[in-house]
Amino acid sequence: MRLLLTGGAGYVGGFTARHLAALGHELHVIDDLSAGHREAAPPGSLTVCGIHERERIAALIRDHQIEAVLHFAAFTSVADSVRRPEAYWRNNVAGTLALLEAMRDGGADRIVFSSTAAVFGETSEMPLVETAPLAPASPYATTKLAVERMLADFARGQGLRFVALRYFNAAGGSADGVHGEHHEPETHLVPIVLQTLLGLRDRLTVYGHDFATPDGTCIRDYVHVADLASAHALALDWTARAASGAGEAINLGTGTGHSVLEVIRATERVTGRSVRFEVGERRPGDTARLVASRERAQRVLGWAPRASLDEILASAWEWHRRNPRGYTRE
Ligand code: UFG
Repeated sequence: MRLLLTGGAGYVGGFTARHLAALGHELHVIDDLSAGHREAAPPGSLTVCGIHERERIAALIRDHQIEAVLHFAAFTSVADSVRRPEAYWRNNVAGTLALLEAMRDGGADRIVFSSTAAVFGETSEMPLVETAPLAPASPYATTKLAVERMLADFARGQGLRFVALRYFNAAGGSADGVHGEHHEPETHLVPIVLQTLLGLRDRLTVYGHDFATPDGTCIRDYVHVADLASAHALALDWTARAASGAGEAINLGTGTGHSVLEVIRATERVTGRSVRFEVGERRPGDTARLVASRERAQRVLGWAPRASLDEILASAWEWHRRNPRGYTRE
Protein backbone atom coordinates (compact mmCIF):
# COMPACT_ATOMS: atom_id res chain seq x y z
CA MET A 1 0.00 0.00 0.00
CA ARG A 2 1.01 3.62 -0.48
CA LEU A 3 0.70 5.25 2.93
CA LEU A 4 1.01 8.69 4.48
CA LEU A 5 1.96 8.87 8.17
CA THR A 6 1.65 12.08 10.14
CA GLY A 7 3.88 12.18 13.21
CA GLY A 8 5.92 9.29 11.86
CA ALA A 9 9.05 10.61 13.60
CA GLY A 10 7.42 10.26 17.01
CA TYR A 11 7.42 7.33 19.40
CA VAL A 12 4.43 5.19 18.35
CA GLY A 13 4.51 6.71 14.85
CA GLY A 14 8.16 5.80 14.33
CA PHE A 15 7.72 2.21 15.51
CA THR A 16 4.70 1.82 13.26
CA ALA A 17 6.48 3.40 10.29
CA ARG A 18 9.40 1.00 10.58
CA HIS A 19 7.03 -1.96 11.00
CA LEU A 20 5.03 -0.99 7.89
CA ALA A 21 8.22 -0.39 5.91
CA ALA A 22 9.42 -3.88 6.87
CA LEU A 23 6.11 -5.28 5.59
CA GLY A 24 6.92 -3.74 2.20
CA HIS A 25 4.55 -0.77 2.13
CA GLU A 26 5.53 2.51 0.44
CA LEU A 27 5.73 5.16 3.16
CA HIS A 28 5.62 8.93 3.17
CA VAL A 29 6.11 10.47 6.59
CA ILE A 30 5.26 14.05 7.48
CA ASP A 31 6.35 15.46 10.83
CA ASP A 32 7.08 19.03 11.90
CA LEU A 33 9.79 17.74 14.29
CA SER A 34 8.34 19.80 17.16
CA ALA A 35 8.45 16.62 19.26
CA GLY A 36 9.63 13.96 16.82
CA HIS A 37 13.18 12.89 16.00
CA ARG A 38 14.45 12.66 12.43
CA GLU A 39 16.19 9.33 13.21
CA ALA A 40 12.91 7.74 14.31
CA ALA A 41 11.39 7.88 10.82
CA PRO A 42 12.53 5.28 8.26
CA PRO A 43 15.48 6.62 6.21
CA GLY A 44 14.40 8.69 3.22
CA SER A 45 10.71 8.76 4.19
CA LEU A 46 10.48 12.12 5.98
CA THR A 47 9.10 15.43 4.70
CA VAL A 48 9.17 18.19 7.31
CA CYS A 49 5.59 19.43 7.16
CA GLY A 50 2.85 20.27 9.66
CA ILE A 51 -0.67 18.86 9.57
CA HIS A 52 -2.08 22.36 9.02
CA GLU A 53 -0.44 22.56 5.60
CA ARG A 54 -3.56 21.43 3.81
CA GLU A 55 -2.63 22.18 0.21
CA ARG A 56 0.83 20.68 0.53
CA ILE A 57 -0.61 17.50 2.03
CA ALA A 58 -3.33 17.25 -0.62
CA ALA A 59 -0.63 17.53 -3.31
CA LEU A 60 1.44 14.85 -1.58
CA ILE A 61 -1.58 12.53 -1.45
CA ARG A 62 -2.34 13.13 -5.14
CA ASP A 63 1.26 12.92 -6.36
CA HIS A 64 2.01 9.67 -4.53
CA GLN A 65 -1.48 8.20 -4.97
CA ILE A 66 -1.78 7.65 -1.23
CA GLU A 67 -4.35 5.01 -0.35
CA ALA A 68 -4.53 5.45 3.42
CA VAL A 69 -3.34 7.80 6.17
CA LEU A 70 -2.08 6.94 9.66
CA HIS A 71 -2.49 9.99 11.87
CA PHE A 72 -0.16 10.09 14.90
CA ALA A 73 0.74 13.79 14.97
CA ALA A 74 -0.61 15.48 18.11
CA PHE A 75 0.36 17.25 21.29
CA THR A 76 0.21 14.53 23.96
CA SER A 77 0.91 15.90 27.43
CA VAL A 78 -2.03 15.89 29.84
CA ALA A 79 -0.47 18.52 32.15
CA ASP A 80 0.58 20.77 29.26
CA SER A 81 -2.95 20.56 27.84
CA VAL A 82 -4.39 21.93 31.09
CA ARG A 83 -2.08 24.95 30.83
CA ARG A 84 -2.49 25.50 27.07
CA PRO A 85 -5.92 24.23 25.96
CA GLU A 86 -5.91 26.50 22.91
CA ALA A 87 -2.72 24.87 21.61
CA TYR A 88 -4.30 21.42 21.92
CA TRP A 89 -7.54 22.42 20.19
CA ARG A 90 -5.60 24.16 17.42
CA ASN A 91 -3.11 21.37 16.84
CA ASN A 92 -5.07 18.24 17.62
CA VAL A 93 -8.54 19.24 16.43
CA ALA A 94 -8.09 22.05 13.85
CA GLY A 95 -4.97 20.26 12.55
CA THR A 96 -6.93 17.05 12.05
CA LEU A 97 -9.69 18.97 10.28
CA ALA A 98 -7.10 20.36 7.85
CA LEU A 99 -5.76 16.84 7.33
CA LEU A 100 -9.22 15.39 6.60
CA GLU A 101 -9.86 18.19 4.11
CA ALA A 102 -6.52 17.48 2.48
CA MET A 103 -7.45 13.79 2.27
CA ARG A 104 -10.73 14.65 0.61
CA ASP A 105 -9.01 17.06 -1.82
CA GLY A 106 -6.27 14.54 -2.57
CA GLY A 107 -8.57 11.54 -2.90
CA ALA A 108 -7.76 9.34 0.14
CA ASP A 109 -10.64 7.96 2.21
CA ARG A 110 -9.06 5.63 4.78
CA ILE A 111 -7.49 6.68 8.09
CA VAL A 112 -6.13 5.08 11.27
CA PHE A 113 -6.11 7.56 14.15
CA SER A 114 -4.13 7.54 17.42
CA SER A 115 -6.64 7.92 20.21
CA THR A 116 -6.15 7.24 23.89
CA ALA A 117 -7.47 5.42 26.94
CA ALA A 118 -7.81 8.91 28.45
CA VAL A 119 -11.17 9.29 26.66
CA PHE A 120 -12.66 7.07 29.38
CA GLY A 121 -13.75 8.46 32.68
CA GLU A 122 -13.24 6.89 36.04
CA THR A 123 -15.43 3.83 36.03
CA SER A 124 -15.51 0.85 38.33
CA GLU A 125 -15.98 -1.55 35.44
CA MET A 126 -12.59 -3.04 34.55
CA PRO A 127 -11.39 -4.13 32.09
CA LEU A 128 -12.66 -1.23 29.98
CA VAL A 129 -14.81 -2.17 27.02
CA GLU A 130 -15.19 0.31 24.17
CA THR A 131 -18.77 1.11 25.17
CA ALA A 132 -17.79 2.14 28.72
CA PRO A 133 -18.75 5.72 29.66
CA LEU A 134 -16.62 8.39 28.01
CA ALA A 135 -15.59 11.24 30.28
CA PRO A 136 -12.29 12.83 29.21
CA ALA A 137 -10.70 14.57 32.20
CA SER A 138 -8.20 16.87 30.43
CA PRO A 139 -8.10 19.07 27.33
CA TYR A 140 -5.73 16.49 25.81
CA ALA A 141 -8.32 13.74 26.20
CA THR A 142 -11.17 16.02 25.11
CA THR A 143 -9.38 16.86 21.87
CA LYS A 144 -8.78 13.16 21.14
CA LEU A 145 -12.46 12.39 21.70
CA ALA A 146 -13.42 15.40 19.56
CA VAL A 147 -11.39 13.91 16.71
CA GLU A 148 -13.10 10.52 17.14
CA ARG A 149 -16.42 12.36 16.72
CA MET A 150 -15.09 14.30 13.73
CA LEU A 151 -14.09 11.04 12.05
CA ALA A 152 -17.57 9.61 12.63
CA ASP A 153 -19.15 12.70 11.05
CA PHE A 154 -16.87 12.49 8.00
CA ALA A 155 -17.67 8.78 7.74
CA ARG A 156 -21.43 9.42 7.78
CA GLY A 157 -21.30 12.41 5.47
CA GLN A 158 -18.49 11.60 3.07
CA GLY A 159 -17.81 7.88 3.26
CA LEU A 160 -14.54 8.08 5.21
CA ARG A 161 -13.43 4.69 6.58
CA PHE A 162 -11.63 4.92 9.91
CA VAL A 163 -10.25 3.10 12.92
CA ALA A 164 -9.53 5.05 16.13
CA LEU A 165 -7.03 3.09 18.22
CA ARG A 166 -7.22 3.92 21.91
CA TYR A 167 -3.75 3.22 23.25
CA PHE A 168 -3.34 2.34 26.89
CA ASN A 169 0.23 2.85 28.25
CA ALA A 170 2.72 2.49 25.42
CA ALA A 171 6.21 1.49 26.56
CA GLY A 172 9.29 -0.42 25.44
CA GLY A 173 12.03 -0.18 22.84
CA SER A 174 13.26 -2.13 19.85
CA ALA A 175 14.92 -5.47 20.56
CA ASP A 176 18.27 -4.18 19.22
CA GLY A 177 18.22 -1.09 21.46
CA VAL A 178 18.31 1.29 18.50
CA HIS A 179 14.87 2.86 18.92
CA GLY A 180 12.83 3.82 21.95
CA GLU A 181 10.94 6.45 23.85
CA HIS A 182 12.31 10.00 23.95
CA HIS A 183 10.06 12.84 25.08
CA GLU A 184 11.17 16.26 26.24
CA PRO A 185 10.22 16.80 28.94
CA GLU A 186 9.73 13.15 29.92
CA THR A 187 6.70 12.49 32.10
CA HIS A 188 6.09 8.75 31.61
CA LEU A 189 6.77 6.19 34.30
CA VAL A 190 8.93 3.63 32.46
CA PRO A 191 11.51 6.06 31.02
CA ILE A 192 11.65 7.95 34.31
CA VAL A 193 12.34 4.75 36.28
CA LEU A 194 15.13 3.82 33.86
CA GLN A 195 16.63 7.32 33.83
CA THR A 196 16.74 7.09 37.61
CA LEU A 197 18.68 3.81 37.34
CA LEU A 198 21.14 5.50 34.99
CA GLY A 199 21.70 8.32 37.47
CA LEU A 200 20.15 10.89 35.15
CA ARG A 201 17.60 11.60 37.88
CA ASP A 202 18.17 11.64 41.57
CA ARG A 203 15.07 9.62 42.42
CA LEU A 204 11.61 8.65 41.22
CA THR A 205 8.57 10.15 42.89
CA VAL A 206 5.63 7.76 43.12
CA TYR A 207 2.56 9.94 42.67
CA GLY A 208 0.28 8.90 45.50
CA HIS A 209 -0.10 5.76 47.60
CA ASP A 210 -3.68 6.17 48.77
CA PHE A 211 -5.55 5.05 45.68
CA ALA A 212 -8.18 2.31 45.94
CA THR A 213 -5.82 -0.39 44.67
CA PRO A 214 -4.18 -3.31 46.54
CA ASP A 215 -0.89 -1.45 47.18
CA GLY A 216 -2.34 2.07 46.99
CA THR A 217 -0.52 3.07 43.77
CA CYS A 218 -2.12 3.54 40.34
CA ILE A 219 -2.67 0.58 38.06
CA ARG A 220 -2.07 0.91 34.32
CA ASP A 221 -2.07 -1.44 31.34
CA TYR A 222 1.43 -1.32 29.79
CA VAL A 223 1.55 -2.43 26.17
CA HIS A 224 4.67 -2.82 24.05
CA VAL A 225 5.00 -0.16 21.37
CA ALA A 226 5.88 -2.90 18.86
CA ASP A 227 2.55 -4.59 19.63
CA LEU A 228 0.83 -1.24 19.00
CA ALA A 229 2.67 -1.04 15.67
CA SER A 230 1.34 -4.42 14.56
CA ALA A 231 -2.21 -3.33 15.49
CA HIS A 232 -1.90 -0.45 13.01
CA ALA A 233 -1.10 -2.83 10.15
CA LEU A 234 -4.20 -4.86 11.06
CA ALA A 235 -6.31 -1.71 11.33
CA LEU A 236 -5.19 -0.67 7.85
CA ASP A 237 -6.31 -4.07 6.54
CA TRP A 238 -9.66 -3.54 8.25
CA THR A 239 -10.18 -0.19 6.50
CA ALA A 240 -9.44 -1.86 3.16
CA ARG A 241 -12.26 -4.37 3.57
CA ALA A 242 -14.68 -1.99 5.35
CA ALA A 243 -17.72 -0.54 3.63
CA SER A 244 -17.74 3.14 2.75
CA GLY A 245 -18.57 5.15 5.89
CA ALA A 246 -17.62 2.42 8.37
CA GLY A 247 -15.62 3.22 11.50
CA GLU A 248 -14.47 1.56 14.71
CA ALA A 249 -12.95 2.68 18.02
CA ILE A 250 -10.78 -0.04 19.51
CA ASN A 251 -8.91 -0.33 22.81
CA LEU A 252 -5.29 -1.46 22.63
CA GLY A 253 -4.01 -2.92 25.88
CA THR A 254 -2.97 -6.28 27.24
CA GLY A 255 -5.87 -6.76 29.64
CA THR A 256 -3.46 -6.94 32.59
CA GLY A 257 -2.80 -4.06 34.94
CA HIS A 258 0.33 -3.31 36.98
CA SER A 259 0.70 -0.84 39.82
CA VAL A 260 3.51 1.72 39.98
CA LEU A 261 5.18 -0.32 42.74
CA GLU A 262 4.92 -3.47 40.61
CA VAL A 263 6.62 -1.67 37.73
CA ILE A 264 9.43 -0.60 40.08
CA ARG A 265 9.87 -4.18 41.39
CA ALA A 266 9.78 -5.64 37.88
CA THR A 267 12.39 -3.12 36.73
CA GLU A 268 14.65 -4.14 39.61
CA ARG A 269 14.20 -7.80 38.70
CA VAL A 270 14.90 -7.23 34.99
CA THR A 271 17.89 -4.93 35.41
CA GLY A 272 19.37 -6.33 38.64
CA ARG A 273 19.61 -2.79 40.05
CA SER A 274 17.60 -1.08 42.74
CA VAL A 275 15.47 1.98 42.06
CA ARG A 276 15.69 5.01 44.39
CA PHE A 277 12.18 6.29 44.95
CA GLU A 278 10.05 8.26 47.35
CA VAL A 279 6.31 8.44 47.73
CA GLY A 280 4.84 11.87 46.98
CA GLU A 281 1.55 13.61 46.37
CA ARG A 282 -0.96 12.49 43.79
CA ARG A 283 -0.54 14.00 40.33
CA PRO A 284 -3.67 15.95 39.32
CA GLY A 285 -5.88 14.00 36.92
CA ASP A 286 -4.49 10.50 37.64
CA THR A 287 -7.14 7.84 38.07
CA ALA A 288 -6.70 4.69 40.16
CA ARG A 289 -6.98 2.06 37.47
CA LEU A 290 -7.03 1.84 33.66
CA VAL A 291 -7.01 -1.63 32.14
CA ALA A 292 -8.21 -2.50 28.64
CA SER A 293 -10.47 -5.25 27.48
CA ARG A 294 -8.70 -6.72 24.45
CA GLU A 295 -11.75 -8.64 23.25
CA ARG A 296 -12.77 -6.19 20.51
CA ALA A 297 -9.24 -5.80 19.18
CA GLN A 298 -9.03 -9.58 18.94
CA ARG A 299 -12.44 -9.99 17.33
CA VAL A 300 -12.36 -7.06 14.89
CA LEU A 301 -8.67 -6.85 14.02
CA GLY A 302 -7.35 -10.28 14.99
CA TRP A 303 -4.82 -8.52 17.26
CA ALA A 304 -3.25 -9.98 20.38
CA PRO A 305 -0.33 -8.32 22.16
CA ARG A 306 2.71 -10.52 22.71
CA ALA A 307 5.07 -8.78 25.12
CA SER A 308 4.90 -9.20 28.89
CA LEU A 309 5.75 -6.42 31.33
CA ASP A 310 9.23 -7.90 31.82
CA GLU A 311 9.82 -7.95 28.06
CA ILE A 312 8.63 -4.37 27.77
CA LEU A 313 10.99 -3.29 30.55
CA ALA A 314 13.95 -5.29 29.21
CA SER A 315 13.63 -3.71 25.77
CA ALA A 316 13.18 -0.22 27.23
CA TRP A 317 16.26 -0.78 29.41
CA GLU A 318 18.29 -1.80 26.36
CA TRP A 319 17.33 1.46 24.63
CA HIS A 320 17.99 3.71 27.63
CA ARG A 321 21.23 1.97 28.55
CA ARG A 322 22.62 2.37 25.03
CA ASN A 323 21.13 5.81 24.44
CA PRO A 324 20.97 7.61 27.78
CA ARG A 325 20.26 10.86 25.93
CA GLY A 326 17.76 9.29 23.58
CA TYR A 327 18.07 10.40 19.96
CA THR A 328 20.18 13.44 20.96
CA ARG A 329 23.69 12.76 19.70
CA GLU A 330 25.74 15.91 20.19
N1 UFG B 1 3.94 7.95 37.70
C1 UFG B 1 4.65 8.11 38.88
N2 UFG B 1 5.79 8.84 38.84
C2 UFG B 1 6.28 9.41 37.70
C3 UFG B 1 5.55 9.23 36.51
C4 UFG B 1 4.39 8.49 36.54
O1 UFG B 1 4.25 7.63 39.94
O2 UFG B 1 7.32 10.08 37.75
C5 UFG B 1 2.73 7.15 37.74
C6 UFG B 1 1.49 7.93 37.34
O3 UFG B 1 0.94 8.56 38.44
C7 UFG B 1 0.62 6.85 36.76
C8 UFG B 1 1.59 5.83 36.18
O4 UFG B 1 2.84 6.13 36.79
O5 UFG B 1 -0.08 6.22 37.78
C9 UFG B 1 1.74 5.95 34.69
O6 UFG B 1 1.98 7.31 34.36
P1 UFG B 1 2.39 7.78 32.90
O7 UFG B 1 2.61 9.25 32.95
O8 UFG B 1 3.50 6.92 32.41
O9 UFG B 1 1.12 7.42 32.03
P2 UFG B 1 -0.38 7.89 32.19
O10 UFG B 1 -1.15 6.68 32.57
O11 UFG B 1 -0.55 9.07 33.04
O12 UFG B 1 -0.64 8.44 30.74
C10 UFG B 1 -0.80 7.62 29.63
C11 UFG B 1 -0.42 8.33 28.34
C12 UFG B 1 -1.29 9.54 28.15
C13 UFG B 1 -2.72 9.16 28.24
C14 UFG B 1 -3.00 8.39 29.48
C15 UFG B 1 -4.36 7.84 29.49
O13 UFG B 1 0.91 8.72 28.39
O14 UFG B 1 -1.04 10.10 26.88
O15 UFG B 1 -2.12 7.27 29.58
O16 UFG B 1 -4.60 7.22 30.67
F1 UFG B 1 -3.50 10.27 28.24
